[in-house]
Amino acid sequence: MQERYTSSAETYDLIYADVIDYEATARQLTELIRACKPDARTLLEAACGTGAVLEPLQAEFDVHGFDLSDDMLRVARTKLPGVDLRPGDMVDFDWGGRFDAIVCMFSSIGYMTDYDSLGAAYGRFAAHLVPGGVVIVEGWLKPAAFIPGFVGGNAAGDERLQVHRVSTSWLEEGGRVSIVDLHHLVGRPEGVSYFAERHRMGMFTADEHVQALESAGFEAEHHPDLFMGRGTYVGVRREDP
Ligand SMILES: C[S@@+](CC[C@H](N)C(=O)[O-])C[C@H]1O[C@@H](n2cnc3c(N)ncnc32)[C@H](O)[C@@H]1O
Repeated sequence: MQERYTSSAETYDLIYADVIDYEATARQLTELIRACKPDARTLLEAACGTGAVLEPLQAEFDVHGFDLSDDMLRVARTKLPGVDLRPGDMVDFDWGGRFDAIVCMFSSIGYMTDYDSLGAAYGRFAAHLVPGGVVIVEGWLKPAAFIPGFVGGNAAGDERLQVHRVSTSWLEEGGRVSIVDLHHLVGRPEGVSYFAERHRMGMFTADEHVQALESAGFEAEHHPDLFMGRGTYVGVRREDP
């Protein structure tokens, strides 16, 4: 097994091109943010990955991003020249400034595998928002929606690059952590290579997300059907005490 989001950074956008409509995601994020804070101008994406959603968000906001993976950031920098993109971890990042909005999309929050790290991440989000600032978090699968033993598959590419991906999954720690192994076969003109990455993701209910956001200083709501339907959490940061 390799470190996650290392080799897969190169094929990430290809695999998700037919799965996620990033333009539509950006439009929906803009509407949600403007509904809570009409004058929002600055935006930070936590766990920005390859910058796929920051790219269309640039039309509406002054965008910034950070991610744990240098390989994902390398791809993001090719699409977002001039944008401040930094290495960082959700649980302890310190940007040195505040934003009008923070977004954390496509289940990246799932990499928080226990309630303490979830609370720490939400605490860092609150510390980086102005009062009245908006956080939008798209959750990972809820415990009731996760199917242990589920085998998934995706294939994408053209005559220069093909990726075929198969996933297996199960639960650990009494159902509190899900494991997803992603096996990749990548075909290039030089030949075919194989690698696998293991993803450990925390299983939180909607109430646990809302509670953790409220404890971190947000007025928070659960929107079950937004984006991929995994549960999205919208919070507005309370005034400074
Ligand atoms: C599923 S990708 C989502 C990327 C991007 N948000 C998108 O919508 O395409 C998950 C991302 O979370 C990042 N990540 C995982 N754990 C993290 C952490 N503790 N802090 C920051 N980024 C993290 C990974 O490196 C990866 O880029």
